[in-house]
Amino acid sequence: MRRPSAISSDFAKEVNPIPEGLDPLRMPQHLAIIMDGNGRWAKAKGLPRVMGHRAGVEALKKTLRLSSDWGINALTVYAFSTENWSRPQEEVNFLMSLFQNVLQRELKSLKLEQVKINFLGDLEPLPAGLKELIQEAIDSTRNNKGIHFNVCTNYGGRRELVLAAQRLAERSIKGELSPTMIDENDFASELFTAGEVDPDLLIRTSGERRISNFLLWQLAYAEIHITDVLWPDFGVSDLKNALLDYQSRRRRFGGLEPVKTTHLDT
Ligand code: FPP
Repeated sequence: MRRPSAISSDFAKEVNPIPEGLDPLRMPQHLAIIMDGNGRWAKAKGLPRVMGHRAGVEALKKTLRLSSDWGINALTVYAFSTENWSRPQEEVNFLMSLFQNVLQRELKSLKLEQVKINFLGDLEPLPAGLKELIQEAIDSTRNNKGIHFNVCTNYGGRRELVLAAQRLAERSIKGELSPTMIDENDFASELFTAGEVDPDLLIRTSGERRISNFLLWQLAYAEIHITDVLWPDFGVSDLKNALLDYQSRRRRFGGLEPVKTTHLDT
């Protein structure tokens, strides 16, 4: 079950052991994160907001590596929402350049570490250079066997559901599907996350208690862990705490008895 460490160029060789107290057999298969608080982190330090995003990348690299080392199979993060275009143009431009620079810098080591990268969202409006790099990252890691790393970019949960409904309607019109036979599997197969199991755990940083249009369908039965820690400060002990919290939950999926959930069952 062990995979090689998932990231990054400078210190990828050592595999982080699973901390004491965490049950390796009950890790979430799929972890989703709303990385919030970059702006507040920067403000508290008297820095421009964008420096918070830069620091957020370091927290993300650390989290991806730990997730891979600790046996989590998929990590999905909210990097840029369909609503984030309304931020000041300067910040939007900075984020687009940041995504491009980070991808350029890290792609080689991500490939070496067998990370399978995907970008979820409507990628069409992104700058051309970023789109090309995203396509290269997706294509060149498609067959990798390591952690699935999904970056939600220009992503909105409602938009995703509308697009799925449109595609199902088109398939119905073509006669490929009978509208009354459309089931949850058909719907899930038209989402950006098609083929991925639903997240078991959602972490949101910076204390906000909202879903913010993130993975509306996929989070139906996810456990939610909210921490006051601002994303750039999120580290090993915070991930461990979130996983301990997750492992303390009795997941019943609407039934009366807890359901055994371990990816070693599958
Ligand atoms: C939310 O904090 C954070 C974002 C909108 C951007 C997150 C992006 C990264 C961490 C970079 C990821 C990079 C790659 C390559 C995937 P906020 O700005 O809303 O913080 P605030 O609520 O304190 O203002």
